[in-house]
Amino acid sequence: MSRTSRCRVCNGTVTEFFDFGRQPLSDCFLAPGTAVEKEFYFRLATGVCGECSMVQLTEEVPREHMFHEDYPYHSSGSLYMRTHFENLAKRLLDRELTGDNPFVVEIGCNDGIMLRTLADAGIRHLGVEPSGGVADLAAAKGIRVRKSFFEESTATEILEAEGHADVIYAANTLCHIPYIGSVLSGVTRLLAPGGIFVFEDPYLLDITERTSFDQIYDEHFFFFTVQSVQYMAARHGLELVDVERLPVHGGEVRYTLAHQGARRPSPAVAELLAEEQKKKLSDMATLQRFGQNVVKVGQELTTLLRDLKDDGKRVVAYGATAKSSMITNFCGIGPELVEFVSDITPSKQGRLTPGTHIPVRPHEAFSDPYPDYALLFAWNHADEIMEKEQEFREAGGKWILYVPDVRVL
Ligand code: SAH
Ligand code: TYD
Ligand code: ZN
Repeated sequence: MSRTSRCRVCNGTVTEFFDFGRQPLSDCFLAPGTAVEKEFYFRLATGVCGECSMVQLTEEVPREHMFHEDYPYHSSGSLYMRTHFENLAKRLLDRELTGDNPFVVEIGCNDGIMLRTLADAGIRHLGVEPSGGVADLAAAKGIRVRKSFFEESTATEILEAEGHADVIYAANTLCHIPYIGSVLSGVTRLLAPGGIFVFEDPYLLDITERTSFDQIYDEHFFFFTVQSVQYMAARHGLELVDVERLPVHGGEVRYTLAHQGARRPSPAVAELLAEEQKKKLSDMATLQRFGQNVVKVGQELTTLLRDLKDDGKRVVAYGATAKSSMITNFCGIGPELVEFVSDITPSKQGRLTPGTHIPVRPHEAFSDPYPDYALLFAWNHADEIMEKEQEFREAGGKWILYVPDVRVL
């Protein structure tokens, strides 16, 4: 008998298709000496809703465990992502924010990577960000931030204080929110009649086709598709009016929602929906096949690392990502296989990776001296990282990648 849970969108039956086992909080880097019994664990498993087709986790981690004062993820660490969000902000300025005194709300603004461009342009804005440390970084850039979780009551308060929003935006945040019904009720209320709600998150089709299974971890609760987003929008009087595939973070979709009937849907919506249907994206058989690929990639990676160890090679990892927490815990990759992880984020340095306790060291350690192999945990930033680490290759170093398959470059 398959395990089931209740859908957080429609209350339908969610049937589990893969169990990643016991996992710690993916962004909880331990200070050395922390009692390991204190690490919080939960069962990470994915299922699909038989009613609305939404793929989702079957167990929820309390939000305060993940998003708090010390949340270590800083969006602005990647130059490529800074450019990505600057381009989006400029597009909003050109196309949407041309009226009288427009107002933009961003859900999950983090360190202000997107809003800084709008703030610099003098646009009225508000970032809603529960993680205090990153919210302070945004505020230091001159961005107006409200330190709270966005949900229906937050939207009501913002509406009363500031009026309707012309654009509500969320990047890599909506998929983090199991109580998504409350968020969408809030969005529907806060959004101006002609306004748009734009969000971008990892795309299930990219995850299944490229076996990028490390996108699945505590913070990523939902794995959206055109089909599931269309259904979810309709429940809240909203309509999916545009979709755009994005190359960032291993493949995402930017969804644009408007009040029902307010805007004419672009043909891109029906086109991508047709592709999902042709590929039977949300069918149990497809999702189970994905699960088989996960097991295969995981085994190949672990075998490669063990072989390199046996050959006396030095392997370090690059990028202490949340994604890698999931993969190291799933595959059993610890400090005996990977000496340390190099990362530029000060709040992760000097700490240990969740569950597997691999030391995180500053970037300077990477070249001191270069290892034989670098396991690229931040594979989604491969172009940017490989370009700036050309000396590593010139010194004879090799990269290990595992998306879409295990390979040495
Ligand atoms: N938009 C940024 C940050 C993504 S990380 C980017 O794309 O890089 C996700 C962010 O969402 C975190 O900063 C987290 O604190 C925030 N978050 C989580 N739940 C939230 C909620 N209910 N409302 C607003 N922000 C939330
Ligand atoms: P990212 O892949 O964006 O996200 P997640 O944690 O959600 O999986 O994280 C990238 C990590 O890699 C982040 O900790 C910063 C680090 N990093 C470097 O150390 N050097 C770099 O050049 C880049 C681009 C990132
Ligand atoms: Zn459902």
